[in-house]
Amino acid sequence: MEKLKSIILKIKNGERPEREELLYIVSARRTVTKEVREWMYSLARERAVGVYGHDIYLRGLIEFTNYCRNNCYYCGLRRDNRTVNRYRLTREQILDCADKGYELNFRTIVLQGGEDPAYSDDDICSIVRGIKERHPDCAVTLSIGEKSRESYQKYFDAGADRYLLRHETANAAHYRRLHPSELSMENRMRCLLDLRDIGFQIGAGFMVGSPGQTDECYADDLAYLLELQPHMIGIGPFIPHHETPFRDEAAGTLEDTLYFLAVLRIMFPEVLLPATTALGTIHPRGREMGVLAGANVIMPNLSPTSVRKDYLLYDGKICTGDEAAECRYCMERRMESIGYKVVTSRGDHAGFEAERRV
Ligand code: 5AD
Ligand code: SF4
Ligand code: FES
Repeated sequence: MEKLKSIILKIKNGERPEREELLYIVSARRTVTKEVREWMYSLARERAVGVYGHDIYLRGLIEFTNYCRNNCYYCGLRRDNRTVNRYRLTREQILDCADKGYELNFRTIVLQGGEDPAYSDDDICSIVRGIKERHPDCAVTLSIGEKSRESYQKYFDAGADRYLLRHETANAAHYRRLHPSELSMENRMRCLLDLRDIGFQIGAGFMVGSPGQTDECYADDLAYLLELQPHMIGIGPFIPHHETPFRDEAAGTLEDTLYFLAVLRIMFPEVLLPATTALGTIHPRGREMGVLAGANVIMPNLSPTSVRKDYLLYDGKICTGDEAAECRYCMERRMESIGYKVVTSRGDHAGFEAERRV
């Protein structure tokens, strides 16, 4: 445990870890003692509190289409899943959700969907503009997959501020295990570089405990994130969906997810780090535990209740029967119960303004 602690302290002091050290951290999660684990969580909390205080940023998630042209092996919305009741929200419905979100004090709206060609770039831009016109003090985040650089530029010019695109895995063999051959890790990484270059705050990330994920894979993820320096990092446990090829695979664990949240917070003190819905799905207090391991963002759902049960990436997803207002106040109470406070703020990355000025 002394070796683990010394590597962690080295990273905390801003030194760049060697590959061998990353691998050591990753594999140590299996043998780490309860005391050292708690020490890592408290160090992670300390880092988050040092930058963001006890503030928790909310992102209002609008899942506006569950059509997807892709066929990722892990995801319940994959195109080969014929049992999904597919839906698309209209521009008006989306703007209504955003208005409701604004009234509930959300200052970031996330538009998330499968890769659905039915929405043209003009459609997306018109929705982004609609939200920005009504709520100029809101950040708009897009999470709609791999597009051309030209499309990303259009969204940015329409006013979108941020873009979430988990890299999923930075290990080429593992990428192949999770995706059919029509998707490539190179293109995904190209997208992230384009997005950052255009000026978006970018979010990358990966699942914890996905099929075939080895210690090497996690070390590759950490190395890639150190290189990319994204503004946000979304991680959550893999959870099997019964209508996918991974239906019989084991889910990622709470312990591993919390461990990686803490490691990421220690590595990236300023990063925006959500305690994800998937984490809340594998444990009733998973999101609270996530915050206590260094997370500082929560993404409650703003989608209309009528479509929520149709946006199932994995089995057992929580909050599918609750109104936006219920989740909003539920989260406020949950965060208060652990000494944190949800705030009315766009919740930009701490370094973002400074970065933009150079
Ligand atoms: N379990 C957990 N997370 C999943 N995602 C997709 N399918 C699953 C699953 N079965 C994650 C992917 C994707 C994000 C939107 O949700 O990482 O990028
Ligand atoms: Fe589509 Fe995203 Fe699901 Fe892959 S993970 S099938 S791109 S919705
Ligand atoms: Fe949705 Fe608690 S966060 S009901």
